[in-house]
Amino acid sequence: MSTHNVWTHKGTFLLAAVGSAVGLGNLWRFPYLTGENGGGAFILIYALTIFAVGIPILIAETMLGRASRRSPIMGMRFLTRCHNTSRAWESIGWLGAASAFMILSFYSVIAGWAIHYTWQMLTGSLVGADAEMIGEGFDALLAAPGLLTFYHTLFIVASGLIVGMGVHKGIESGLRIIMPALFAILLVVLVYGIANGDFAAAASFLFTFNIADLSLEGWLAAMGQSFFTLSLGMGAIMAYGAYMNSEVSLTRTAIAIAIVDTSVAMVAGLAIFSLVFGAGLSPGQGPGLMFVTLPLAFAEMPFGALVGGVFFILVLGAAISSSISLIEPVAAYLVERFDMTRPQAVALMVVASWALGLLTVASFNIWAEGTLFHALAGRSPFEFIELLTNIFMPLGGLLIALFAGWALTHSEVMKEMRTSETWFMIWRFLVRFVAPAAVSFVFLRTIPQVEGYLIPTIGALVIVGAFAAGRTFLADGHQEG
Ligand code: TRP
Repeated sequence: MSTHNVWTHKGTFLLAAVGSAVGLGNLWRFPYLTGENGGGAFILIYALTIFAVGIPILIAETMLGRASRRSPIMGMRFLTRCHNTSRAWESIGWLGAASAFMILSFYSVIAGWAIHYTWQMLTGSLVGADAEMIGEGFDALLAAPGLLTFYHTLFIVASGLIVGMGVHKGIESGLRIIMPALFAILLVVLVYGIANGDFAAAASFLFTFNIADLSLEGWLAAMGQSFFTLSLGMGAIMAYGAYMNSEVSLTRTAIAIAIVDTSVAMVAGLAIFSLVFGAGLSPGQGPGLMFVTLPLAFAEMPFGALVGGVFFILVLGAAISSSISLIEPVAAYLVERFDMTRPQAVALMVVASWALGLLTVASFNIWAEGTLFHALAGRSPFEFIELLTNIFMPLGGLLIALFAGWALTHSEVMKEMRTSETWFMIWRFLVRFVAPAAVSFVFLRTIPQVEGYLIPTIGALVIVGAFAAGRTFLADGHQEG
């Protein structure tokens, strides 16, 4: 018996999934990682994993949600029981909850930077500023842990209120405006970049593939980013799939999500790198990339304060529609499993993630170096959390692919997919062989070889193992209804 309602409108899943997928991952993370990892080669791996691994797993994850009509953890438990498979598959749900909690912690801090720039734009404080002033302004923001914490708190509380009050389903009409408007304004920035920046340099940086340029860590980052940007491998899509109308085609929906998401990232990348090369900035400057290049364009363009203000408001809209999809699966689980009220469940998730987010805040100032994280893993706490999510999301995706491809019965899946035999066979081949092989290949190639990876890898394995063991153990003592 299902505990979920179904969205009545057929397009709602698509809209919600696009709202989840399009966010800081496209606008902030994609350009900065591409710049750090040398451009084209990074994009090649990213694009390959989106299409050969991401789309099939997106289909699988949506299907698991729709077939179970429950929150991810309870849904996985339900499916393992219906299909008589091992309860260890429930670790997919737990792994997802752990990823959501970690991603939200830094996502909210970065969204806080966008709050700062919305304010700066609307007050006109950056009008006419040059690259140096904008760079100094950004450094000053990072050097102020109190201010960063203030913005981080604002963002996470706003996201929590939306999910806690259950109004996120009503956000649909907002998204219908925010998403196209964001895309339109990105095109305006791109046109400005073509006219005033160096578009040719940007295009050659982004689309000249030299695989030798890509470090081993770059491989993992590219794969991690393809999961991150599609909101994949942690149950967000599963949670939304639980509300999806049974008639809608999974294949077509997944392809549409991937195309929209990739287009936003590409336009953002081309716009940002045109400006970067035009202004002689460094493409590899790290997480600040978007926040120092775009304000520079807005400082110079006509009506820049207004255009920039609207732009950052839309960025915040896109970020909120992503962050609610990080909170929703965990909150839904706490409600279903522990009979918490919705506000209690959301508060628990948000407070815990907020506290973890303080590590990210500190990573840009007081703990930028010399911490335990640097000693053990050679990176700041923020970089360490990002690294863990780059491992957890593909790992979750790998398990989802294996579960959907091997553990579920052919006829069940075929029925749920509602597609032709040919498409079904192609999809099944991709989730059975291609996706697991690709993810394992990148893991085996990168994880053991890069300095400082040993500890995070062992850590990740211990956490996953503990979750799986803990669940199996609890399951024996504590039979649920
Ligand atoms: N995809 C979002 C972005 O690109 C981030 C996000 C939202 C996410 N929900 C997720 C990432 C779930 C991984 C898993 O901004």
